[in-house]
Amino acid sequence: MLGPVILAASRSDRMRRLISAAPVTKQVVDRFIPGEDVDDIVPVVRNLADNGLELTMDVVGEDITNPVQAAAARDAYLELVDRLKPLELGTRAEMSVKLSMFGQALDDGHELALKNVRPVVEAAAEIGTTVTLDAEDHTTLDSMFAIHEELRKDFPQTGCVIQAYLFRTEADARRLAESGSRVRLVKGAYKEPASVAYQDKHEIDRAYVRILRTLMKGEGYPMIGSHDPRLIAIGQELAHQAGRKLDEYEFQMLYGIRTEEHLRLAAEGHRMRVYTAYGTDWYGYFMRRLAEKPANLRFFARSMLTK
Ligand code: FDA
Repeated sequence: MLGPVILAASRSDRMRRLISAAPVTKQVVDRFIPGEDVDDIVPVVRNLADNGLELTMDVVGEDITNPVQAAAARDAYLELVDRLKPLELGTRAEMSVKLSMFGQALDDGHELALKNVRPVVEAAAEIGTTVTLDAEDHTTLDSMFAIHEELRKDFPQTGCVIQAYLFRTEADARRLAESGSRVRLVKGAYKEPASVAYQDKHEIDRAYVRILRTLMKGEGYPMIGSHDPRLIAIGQELAHQAGRKLDEYEFQMLYGIRTEEHLRLAAEGHRMRVYTAYGTDWYGYFMRRLAEKPANLRFFARSMLTK
């Protein structure tokens, strides 16, 4: 029952100030967010790539409140692209973006987010890589999918994320399972009402399998975003049944979670992409990681008490 409480706290400014200022927080945060700026992150990228892993890079931040912050988010990603260029990793290091960080929730937010994200997608294409649009809460998704469609007119490789817990997602998956599409399927990390989303863990898992089957049978490129051993095994089986080769789908996991499994899948010849977040505005991202596994919260609380 802790998960929903933590997710509610993830949207509270008061909690944000409290947790962000806690003296031991950084050491706990580092497990999931291995750096505050681009200088910290380049060696992490190199190390993961040297271990046969691929990356999707996220500059943490969301729900910004003015257009200046949205432009700063764009610039942070442009700087990241600049720093990735000499590494020559191509699509082995792509980027994930949250449109709320690009201004989506502000006045005329849809246009503003599109205006800010486009240069990032263009810059990514210039260094031979691409961008995936993360999925945020359900109220943002029509805009996200419209921006995805718009960007794909010029950059067909632009990916997007769909969330198995939402009732709408089976229909979204059928629409998106077309040639050239890149779709990451995740369970879903936000607090959503029962009117739009499954609340029961088993129902979410069953929906995940149905949606993954649709993606695997389709013409696009499925990206299996999960740490769940059962879903990973089912993903492999569905890919096999659909006659897909190892380079016709991929696994994705978050930095700091089930690291040995990243290496195991890569060693088996799978494409394994690690979602690697960095930056100073880590609060929302960190709280969702706590909500996913309450044991993380116990670890966090213990480290505060022993300080
Ligand atoms: P589940 O939560 O059942 O976890 C399976 C096992 O993995 C657990 O038993 C535990 O061992 C381990 N585990 C999972 N989470 C952990 C944690 N935080 N700490 C420690 N261990 C943990 N969501 C979203 O709404 N929009 C998005 O754009 C994305 N993007 C995204 C990208 C990638 C690459 C991944 C892997 C996930 C996301 N997510 C996301 C998050 C996703 O929706 C979901 O909340 C988490 O992946 C947890 O769900 P699992 O599928 O891992 O299963």
